[in-house]
Amino acid sequence: MKTAVITGASSGIGFATSAELIQKGYHIIGIGHDKTHCEEAEKQLRALSNDTDITFLCGDLMQQREVERIAGEISQLLAERNESRLEVLINNAGCVRSWYTTTEEGYEQQFALNHLASFLLTYRLLPHLKRAQGRVILTGSESHKHMRMRWNDVMLTRGYNPLTAYKQSKLANILFAKGLNERYLGDGITSYVVDPGLVCTDIGCKNTGGLVDWIWSRRKKYGVQPEVPAKTYAFLSETNPAPRELYYHLCKPNNYSCQVTHENADKLFALSEKLCGIQYPSWIQS
Ligand SMILES: NC(=O)c1ccc[n+]([C@@H]2O[C@H](COP(=O)([O-])OP(=O)(O)OC[C@H]3O[C@@H](n4cnc5c(N)ncnc54)[C@H](OP(=O)(O)O)[C@@H]3O)[C@@H](O)[C@H]2O)c1
Repeated sequence: MKTAVITGASSGIGFATSAELIQKGYHIIGIGHDKTHCEEAEKQLRALSNDTDITFLCGDLMQQREVERIAGEISQLLAERNESRLEVLINNAGCVRSWYTTTEEGYEQQFALNHLASFLLTYRLLPHLKRAQGRVILTGSESHKHMRMRWNDVMLTRGYNPLTAYKQSKLANILFAKGLNERYLGDGITSYVVDPGLVCTDIGCKNTGGLVDWIWSRRKKYGVQPEVPAKTYAFLSETNPAPRELYYHLCKPNNYSCQVTHENADKLFALSEKLCGIQYPSWIQS
């Protein structure tokens, strides 16, 4: 049985993608933050079929020690099932913040969850992904197109703007996927970014408030249901041979920002390694 790890599986796009992959026979390891959301999501996903094979892990992926704990629990879960392969890792958990807020490490929260959590979790799961010649899929956004990395102040400590922080974190998603492909295509690991389009979820209303909450509660009504982008994750997980482009919308490749360069991808890799205290290997030991 194939396994997919999906972060942010307790609601919205991650929940719909979990349902889509369950129907395709995957064992799902879902990750969410809020315990009640996780329990409710697990109950609903189990009701989809008698064969649903799902485990939820709950934790705050903004905090690096939590990412480490969850990565350890994933490895343990796989070992208990006598499996060491991970076919799909979907780094989808994300947040919006109205104000400058930081994690335990002192990192800006949107950058920490939307980018660094994926960077660290993927690093920890690389050996499992290599064994399966697996795929890493990140949830990006078209909003990345109107942004450059603020290399001199990546946490935006000066003049914080929530939308700028969000757009930068989504540019980081594509730079990270490009960096992964440059390093690990030879190991059989392929990385992608999905642009889900505008989707009707509550992302802008969780832990926000003020203008962000007000705008999002109106804007989300124009979005598609999460089941629409879920098909693109299934397409990228299932299609053989592995699709070769980097950025997808509605199961089709799409163009992305000219900021997505080898130099920027490398620079982000180096910075993220420093911020996570890790060093990606040049060769993955499986
Ligand atoms: N909605 C859109 O129009 C849109 C457009 C482009 C990109 N995206 C991206 O899509 C992804 C999913 O968002 P969504 O729209 O589906 O919103 P959502 O329904 O709020 O889903 C976000 C998921 O991330 C989880 N999460 C939030 N904070 C977390 C934390 N600290 N640790 C662990 N998990 C955490 C949430 O868990 P809890 O619910 O338990 O807190 C939830 O499962 C995000 O990366 C977002 O940037 C969304």
